[in-house]
Amino acid sequence: MAIKRPEAPSNLRCEYRTNPLGLDIKRPRLSWQVNDSRRGAIQSAYHVLAASSKELLAVGKCDVWDSGKVISDDSIHIEYAGIPLVSRRRYFWKVRTWNSADKPSLWSRINWWETGLLHHSEWKADWIGLKRKKSDKKTPSPFLRRELTIGKKIKSARIYITARGLYTAYINGNRVGKDYFTPGWTDYNKRLQYQTYDITGFIRKGENAIGAILGDGWYCGHVGLAGRNIYGSYPELLAQIHIRYSDDTEDMITTDRSWKAACGPIVSSDILMGEDYDARKEFDGWNKPGFNDSRWSKLSIRKPANEILASQYAPTVQKVKRLKPVCVVNPKKGVYVFDLGQNMSGWACLSVRGRRGQKVRLRHAEVLNPDGTIYTENLRSAKAQDTYILKGKGTEEFEPHFTYHGFRFVEVTGYPGKPSLDSITGVAIQTAIPQTGQFKCSSRMVNRLFRNIFWGQRSNFIEVPTDCPQRDERLGWTGDIQTFAPTACFNMDSASFMTKWLRDVREAQSDAGAYPDVAPRVAAGEGTAAWGDAGIICPWNIWLYYGDRKILDENYESMKKWIHYLGKNSSKYIRPDKGYGDWLSVKAETPKDLIATAYYAKSVQLFAEIAGILDRKSEKKKYLSQFKEIKDAFIREYVTSAGRITGETQTAYVLALKLDLLPRKLRDKAAKRIIQDIEKRKGHLSTGFLGTSLIMDVLTEIGRDDIAYQLLLNETFPSWGYMVKHGATTMWESWDSFTKEKGFANPSMNSFNHYSLGSVSEWLYKSAAGISPDPGKPGFKHMIIRPRLDTRLKYASATYDSIHGKISSHWKVVKDMLYLDVIIPSNTTASIYLPVDSAEFVRESGRKLERTEGIDSIETVNGEIICRAGAGSYSFTIRMGR
Ligand code: BGC
Repeated sequence: MAIKRPEAPSNLRCEYRTNPLGLDIKRPRLSWQVNDSRRGAIQSAYHVLAASSKELLAVGKCDVWDSGKVISDDSIHIEYAGIPLVSRRRYFWKVRTWNSADKPSLWSRINWWETGLLHHSEWKADWIGLKRKKSDKKTPSPFLRRELTIGKKIKSARIYITARGLYTAYINGNRVGKDYFTPGWTDYNKRLQYQTYDITGFIRKGENAIGAILGDGWYCGHVGLAGRNIYGSYPELLAQIHIRYSDDTEDMITTDRSWKAACGPIVSSDILMGEDYDARKEFDGWNKPGFNDSRWSKLSIRKPANEILASQYAPTVQKVKRLKPVCVVNPKKGVYVFDLGQNMSGWACLSVRGRRGQKVRLRHAEVLNPDGTIYTENLRSAKAQDTYILKGKGTEEFEPHFTYHGFRFVEVTGYPGKPSLDSITGVAIQTAIPQTGQFKCSSRMVNRLFRNIFWGQRSNFIEVPTDCPQRDERLGWTGDIQTFAPTACFNMDSASFMTKWLRDVREAQSDAGAYPDVAPRVAAGEGTAAWGDAGIICPWNIWLYYGDRKILDENYESMKKWIHYLGKNSSKYIRPDKGYGDWLSVKAETPKDLIATAYYAKSVQLFAEIAGILDRKSEKKKYLSQFKEIKDAFIREYVTSAGRITGETQTAYVLALKLDLLPRKLRDKAAKRIIQDIEKRKGHLSTGFLGTSLIMDVLTEIGRDDIAYQLLLNETFPSWGYMVKHGATTMWESWDSFTKEKGFANPSMNSFNHYSLGSVSEWLYKSAAGISPDPGKPGFKHMIIRPRLDTRLKYASATYDSIHGKISSHWKVVKDMLYLDVIIPSNTTASIYLPVDSAEFVRESGRKLERTEGIDSIETVNGEIICRAGAGSYSFTIRMGR
C-alpha cells in the first residue's frame, strides 16, 4: 500500500506572529506545525526556503535563504540564517518537512515577514507637537494634518509611526489600522515602540491628506500612583511614509514643519479620568484633501535624539468583543444604569439623538449599591467618566478615543428622553493575543470561574500585565503576573506580550540589580520578595510553555544581576523583607523574611536551571550549590525537627514543599500540617496571592486531590466559589472584596477585576483536565497527560493550542467506566497516565493497550499505568472501581 504523503506544514509563524509587518529583528525565528494525523507522526527533517518575491519562491528559487534539508525534529523557533536582512523589505518563506519514513511533505503555503526600519539613522522625520506647559489645566487632544500631491502611480506605501503619547492616524479619511493606545506603553525615556502599516490601499495618485489625533496616554496623562506628566508635558508625533511608485522610484513624506494643528472636539482625554467630547467642535473633513486649514496653527518641531525606536513586538490593543446590555434600570429620576452582564475593560459606545448642546454623561462602575445606583468609591481618584455634547444632527454615535475603563455598569445621565437597551453597547478591549485554552467540566460554578479568570486576563492584558483596570492604578505589578503567568500562557498566546513586558522589566531594573515592583517603573518600590522574583519566574514560564530559549538568553545577564542583588541584601542566606508578604491572605500571617528567603531559593534554583539550559555548566553548578546553602539556611531558621515551620500557615508549608526547602524526612509531616490547617478552617484555604498560586499543585503532589477539589468546589467564604456565588464575572482582588456580613471591603483597595487569585486555572488545565508541560522538553514537545478524577465531577475537558499544535484531554466517568479522549499534536510525544494498575482493564479504540499503535511503552508505577505515546488521537476506555 502506498504511504500517503504527509500534508504540508501549517500555521507558519515568524516571532509568534502570522506575517508580521515591520519586524526589526535581524535573525527572526520561524515556527510551523507538522500536519500529519497518523499516530506517532514526527518530523525527521525540514527545509526552509526564503526569497525576495513570491514568484521566485513559487518556482523554488530562493535568493535569500535555503536551509537545505536539515535533519532535525525542531519545528519551532528556527532562527533565520540567510543573507543579512535589510530595512523595509518583505521576505517570503515556505517550509516542508519529512516524516519518519523520510517522505517529504508538500510545501507549505507561502508566508512572509517584512522588516521595519533597522537603523536609527533611517528615521528622517521630526517630532511635531503643540506645546503645552505642565501646569496647563486644559489638555485638549490636538488634530494634526497635511496634504500632499502625488504625481505618479503607486505600487506600495508604508507608514512608520510613533508618538510620545498616543496617536490615531488617518489617510484620506480612513483610519490607519484597528489598533488602540498605540504606540503602547514603555518607559518612554528609554524606548519607544513604533508601528508599521501597509497603506497602499489608502494613498493614491493626486491629492491626499494625512491626519493624526494625539492623546496624552501614559506619556503625559495620569498614570496610577504617579500623577500626570511623568514622561513629558505634551504629546508629539513622529511618522514617515515611504512610497514606492510603479516605476520603482521612491519618496518619503515625514512629519515636519509643513504640518498644521488645531484643537477640536476632544476637549480632554485621559486614561484614568475619561474623555470629554464636544461634537459641536468637530472639523468636518479634516482628514481628507481640500479641507481649509488656514486657521490651523504651526507645530513645534524637534529633531529625534538618540531615543531607541523599536518595532512593536507583541500585538496591539484592539477591540475584541461588543456586548449588548442585559438590562437597564432607572434608580433615580434621569439616571439610567445599564448592565453589560460582564466586568471588563473598554468603553461604552453611546447612540443618541437630541438637540445641539445637550450633554450626556457616562460613568462607569464594577458593582452597584443596594439601591441600584453605581458604586464608584473603589475607583479612588479615577474619574472614569466620559461626556458627550451633541451636535444635534440625526443619530449620533460616540466612542472615546484615548481612555478605557474597568466596568460592568454604565450610568447614563443627561440623556434626551428615555434611553433604550440599544443606546449603549459595551466595547471590550485587550492586547489582541489569541485565545489558546478552553476548559469545561460538569460543575457550572467552576465553568463560570474559568470564564471569570479568562475575562480577568483579558481586561488586564492591556499593553502590560496590569493589576486592575478600573481604579487609579493599572500598573504592571510584577508579583501579580508572577503568580498568574502559567494560567496566562494556557489561556492565551502570551509569549510575545510577555517578551515585550520583560523588556520593560529589564529597563526598570536598578543599577544595583533590583527588579521593580511595577514595570514600566513609575512608582512603588523595588527588590520586593515574590514581586522582584518575577524577573526570573516569568521568563522561565515562557520557556516552559513556548520552548523559547531566546527569552532566557535575553534576560540572562539581568537575572544574574538580580541574584547578586539578593545575595548582597541577605544575611547568611536569610533575606529580610518589608514587602507585601502573602498579600491578602485570610487571618494567616506568614513571616515576610520566610517568604523572601523561600523566593530567594526559588530564584537561585531556577537561575541554576536556566544556566544549564544555556550551556553555562560552571554557573549551573555554582548556583545549585548556592541553592543548597539557602535551603540549609531556611531549614535552620524556620523548620523544627518535628516539621513545624515558623508561622505555621498554609502558605509557609506550601512554599517549603513546593520549593523543595525541607529535608526529605519532614515532607510528610509538613504535608499533614497543611491538611490539618485546612481542616481547622472547615475545609478552607487561608492563602493570599502567593500561597494560592501554589497550594493546589502542592495538594496534588502530596496525593490529596480530594482536598484540592474541596477547595475548588467550596462556595463558602473564603473560596473561589464564594465569588462566583455572589455574582462575580471577573476575579476579585481579595477573598473578601464582598461579604454578606460586611458588604464591600475597604474602597481604598478593592478591585473586582484582579487576576492574581485566578492562578487556580493553571490547576484546572494541569490537574482537573490533565495537560501539563514538561520542563525536560519545553513548549509541549513532550507533555504529561494526567487527569485527576474526583467523584464530585462527572467530566472535565481542556484543549490547548500549543506552539506545536492542538492538545486535548477529555475525561468522563459513567458508572464504573472511565472514558479518556486525548489528542497529542504531530511531532510531539506524551506520557499519558491512566488511573488503573493493570492494562487488562484498558482498551484504546477497542484494542488492547499492548496493541495500540503510537504507544511505545507501558509501565505501571504506584498503581497507575504510564503510556509513552506519540502524536495522534486516542480514545481510552478504562474499567474502574474493582
Ligand atoms: C496592587 C496589587 C499589588 C499590590 C502590592 C496593589 O495596590 O493592586 O495587586 O501586587 O499593590 O501589594
